[in-house]
Amino acid sequence: MLGLGKMGPRRRHGIEPTLAGVDGVPTPTPEDRFTFGLWTVGNRGRDPFGHEVRPPLDPVEAVHRLAELGAYGVNFHDDDLVPPGSSAAGRASILGRFRRALDATGMKVPMATTNLFSHPVFKEGAFTANDPAVRRYALAKTLDAIELGVELGAGVYVMWGGREGTECDAAKDVRLALDRYKEAVDLCCAHVRDRGYDLRFALEPKPNEPRGNLLLPTVGHALAFVERLEWPEMVGINPEFAHETMSGLSFHQAVAQVLWAGKLFHVDLNGQVPGKFDQDFRFASEGLKDAFHLVRLLEEARWDGMRHFDAHAYRTEDADGVWEFARGCMRSYLILREKARRFAADPEIAAALDEAMAGRIAEPTSPGGHAPDAIAAIRRGPHDPDGLGARGYGHERLDQLVTELLLGVR
Ligand code: GCO
Ligand code: MN
Ligand code: MN
Repeated sequence: MLGLGKMGPRRRHGIEPTLAGVDGVPTPTPEDRFTFGLWTVGNRGRDPFGHEVRPPLDPVEAVHRLAELGAYGVNFHDDDLVPPGSSAAGRASILGRFRRALDATGMKVPMATTNLFSHPVFKEGAFTANDPAVRRYALAKTLDAIELGVELGAGVYVMWGGREGTECDAAKDVRLALDRYKEAVDLCCAHVRDRGYDLRFALEPKPNEPRGNLLLPTVGHALAFVERLEWPEMVGINPEFAHETMSGLSFHQAVAQVLWAGKLFHVDLNGQVPGKFDQDFRFASEGLKDAFHLVRLLEEARWDGMRHFDAHAYRTEDADGVWEFARGCMRSYLILREKARRFAADPEIAAALDEAMAGRIAEPTSPGGHAPDAIAAIRRGPHDPDGLGARGYGHERLDQLVTELLLGVR
């Protein structure tokens, strides 16, 4: 029981209070902007060593079940919705049924994406394959998928280059591969501009898996890449919790830098332990403290994008376990959001933040700006490095308070 009624009115960071459900945890609603991929709840539990353990999930059922659970929408890869090889009539009937489910539930499709990784044609790469014929096919498939996404109302297009990478380094000139990657993204942007679509792209970094090494392995690499594009304003980032964590990096720090750059177009939430394969666990099931700081960051920034769960149920689960998984992702986000609000309202935490001088990072280092006089004044001092170096910052206490908040005793 979170006992939300006890929470004070203080809203230092403006995180709005939410109405609590029966057990004290808010019930997800479409205003929370939670989305799931069709491939997430539809994941059948296949892994490199084992076969599927769950039956296929009808996308129409996914839409209805997620709507009942309070989600805002669903996202899909082209092939998740319209199986490859479908006839024109088959495609139309699938789309008709899917649209009727969206209309009946009010669910939206805010993001779309392309599967450029399953078919053998992409085994050496898609946008960065050495063979231009493969690259042209990848581009054509992507442009078709963009049309499908736009048709269903998507405003963001995610590009995850699952096969853009190497095992045999001798076979790929990485600088030229990046030229081709840029060319592909530029061509997609050109198409969207030409058609006048209201669609932005979000690049999703990942360090490895399924390739030994992937191109654009981290958020930092992707941010730098965007700046070299023809229309950088059309392209942002889709950071994923699991992917940065696989590299041993702090996810909320990565997201903070993406926000700072004005490039947070989408986010993939899940759970992950550092140094392991891409686990895609239920959100906040691993990396709880990082997840807390992430939620605090998104909420304090009043970020208005989709909280997308790119995760799936454990392989041990049957169909019921899948819906427990989906419910758990949203509940954990909402619980962490309430914790973030408590963090902002807790007087002891506020005192510890003062001791850590957390607010003073907002003060400019040079109040006089870049002027030579201002720089000269800083050089003159006086400075007291020994005095400053002797001070303690109280981080042990502050971090323990955060830990206790998360453990439920505050
Ligand atoms: C993964 C990726 C994918 C992408 C998806 C959207 O590691 O498998 O996270 O799930 O997010 O393909 O493009
Ligand atoms: Mn992933
Ligand atoms: Mn992802």
